[in-house]
Amino acid sequence: MIYVNDVKFGKKELELVGRCVKTGWISSEGSFVKEFEEAFSGFCGVKYGVACMNGTSAIHLGLLSLGIAKQDEVIIPAFTMIATAYAVIYTGAKPVLVDAEPRTWNMDTAQIRGKITKKTKAILPVHIYGHPVDMEPIWKIKKEKKIDILEDAAEAHGAEYKGIKAGALGDAAAFSFYANKIVTTGEGGMVVTNNKRIALAARYFRNMAFQKKVRYLHKDIGFNYRMTNLQAAVGLAQVSKIESLIDKKRRIARIYNERLKNIEGIEIPREEKWAKNVYWMYGVLIDEKVFGLSRDKVREKLYGEGVDTRSFFVPMHKQPVFRKMGLFLKEKYPVAEDISRRGLYLPSGLTLDEKKIDFISDKLKKIKKRYA
Ligand SMILES: Cc1ncc(COP(=O)(O)O)c(C=O)c1O
Repeated sequence: MIYVNDVKFGKKELELVGRCVKTGWISSEGSFVKEFEEAFSGFCGVKYGVACMNGTSAIHLGLLSLGIAKQDEVIIPAFTMIATAYAVIYTGAKPVLVDAEPRTWNMDTAQIRGKITKKTKAILPVHIYGHPVDMEPIWKIKKEKKIDILEDAAEAHGAEYKGIKAGALGDAAAFSFYANKIVTTGEGGMVVTNNKRIALAARYFRNMAFQKKVRYLHKDIGFNYRMTNLQAAVGLAQVSKIESLIDKKRRIARIYNERLKNIEGIEIPREEKWAKNVYWMYGVLIDEKVFGLSRDKVREKLYGEGVDTRSFFVPMHKQPVFRKMGLFLKEKYPVAEDISRRGLYLPSGLTLDEKKIDFISDKLKKIKKRYA
């Protein structure tokens, strides 16, 4: 089976983790945490990094540090991974949805203004599958209305918008280092920002809201969202080769594009002229009428041929958990619904070579020929 993802570590990860084991520096107090924070935030082109236990906690910390609370609204895309919406809910604020746009599958920035109310405190763009969001319209809104921007860059390590890296496109950004991410620490996350106040707040909330002077007196609800030195050791080793990891993802996408571009009924992912797409996962859309089979049937047949795939996210307004809470009940997001129904991503792991991509592409062609 060719899985959708795989992990490729080298000697450096082993060496740095070994150092933690040998020295006993395994908790968040170890020096690799700071080194990893500096290395990754430096890569993004921002001053501060606050490592934490996963991407979801990074978004939560980002929102808390921006002061988001119960009375507020946060604008997020309808088409995203559920963690984006969860993190807003954790703060007590209300997630407000905008539809996706059909080219990049990111939030349709033209629809944001229509969703702004007096309660809107932040916009949370998500760089879906590694393609950056068109930020210019969001920057304009920020300037006019004094609304903060927190990027969900969980899937977009190294992606660029007009030459600026994801992580440096808003007031703060949240990254995930889950095992399937470009840089991984197994489980892990980071808030990055150029704003010292936000960085300090994120550190404070990450560590139980301990105060510096009177340690065991707490003024706020804090969280234990700390990252261990063991995870940071892996992350540090990974960041040292991040450029080659990103090049590999882009090479995988180039080969797939070449092989799939002429198959009728398959829409390949785009890279807008202002964007650097890091193709975290190589997603395609199936047009059932043209291809001859539904997305689910294509997935089933590919699985039978030894090729693992994933369907696209289910939009937020379709999530039973939110509907149960009375959220998004009469709302419609046709583009999000459409790409969610038609989208799948193909194996995109870092050990994927040309031979495997040829194998997968040939299977797709064979399935179309045989069953469509
Ligand atoms: C867009 C997006 N946001 C947030 C997350 C949450 O990250 P984590 O799984 O590290 O909590 C993910 C995770 O896969 C994601 O894809």
